[in-house]
Amino acid sequence: MSNYIIAPSILSANFARLGDEVNDVLTAGADWIHFDVMDNHYVPNLTIGPMVCAALRKEGIKAPIDVHLMVEPVDSLVEPFAKAGASSISFHPEASKHVHRTIMLIKEQGCKVGLVLNPGTALSVLDPVLSLLDLVLVMSVDPGFGGQSFIPESINKIKQVRTLIDNSGYEIRLEVDGGITPANVGAIAKAGADTFVAGSAIFSAQDYTDVIAEFRRALA
Ligand code: DX5
Ligand code: ZN
Repeated sequence: MSNYIIAPSILSANFARLGDEVNDVLTAGADWIHFDVMDNHYVPNLTIGPMVCAALRKEGIKAPIDVHLMVEPVDSLVEPFAKAGASSISFHPEASKHVHRTIMLIKEQGCKVGLVLNPGTALSVLDPVLSLLDLVLVMSVDPGFGGQSFIPESINKIKQVRTLIDNSGYEIRLEVDGGITPANVGAIAKAGADTFVAGSAIFSAQDYTDVIAEFRRALA
């Protein structure tokens, strides 16, 4: 069992049959379910909230649900998502007035906590809070939509975050989100990522087992 996590983003799933889609990717070998929350304010798109997360838990989904909040403000949604069964909650520092307070709030609610770096966000935001984090999520596209192309400069950023994490000695996952396919996941892993979000590459595939196997082969 490798230490690599594959987290399909349900943003690209068929929402009309979401429970089946989630069960299908998990049966096909996915590790986590990546849950993109957009508010038409922090990002120019609107998706799903805590009720949908709770519905997946009620449907019997046991896998970790990796909530990616692209909302502003952040704090008021933390408790609803924790109650709805989120395993981890990641947020964008630009969207919270008090980044440390939001981190502590997520931890108090018993969830793992992640900070998300947009392509235009400097790494320095990690310095004061790195020791508190369970994951760093590097966006390799600008947030808001599935199906965008991987921004090549992200590779350099992933390498830099890898070095920061290794030097810190903390156990922090390095997750990457946006434009990931079986063709580029190897290079992304080589740069230091260990957790891979993929939306369109997985949900547009004919066969989820085949495409996840393709990801695993590229990571082997
Ligand atoms: C973008 C979302 C991503 C998105 C990834 O704002 O955070 O999780 O769904 O989709 P793909 O893999 O299609 O780039
Ligand atoms: Zn995401």
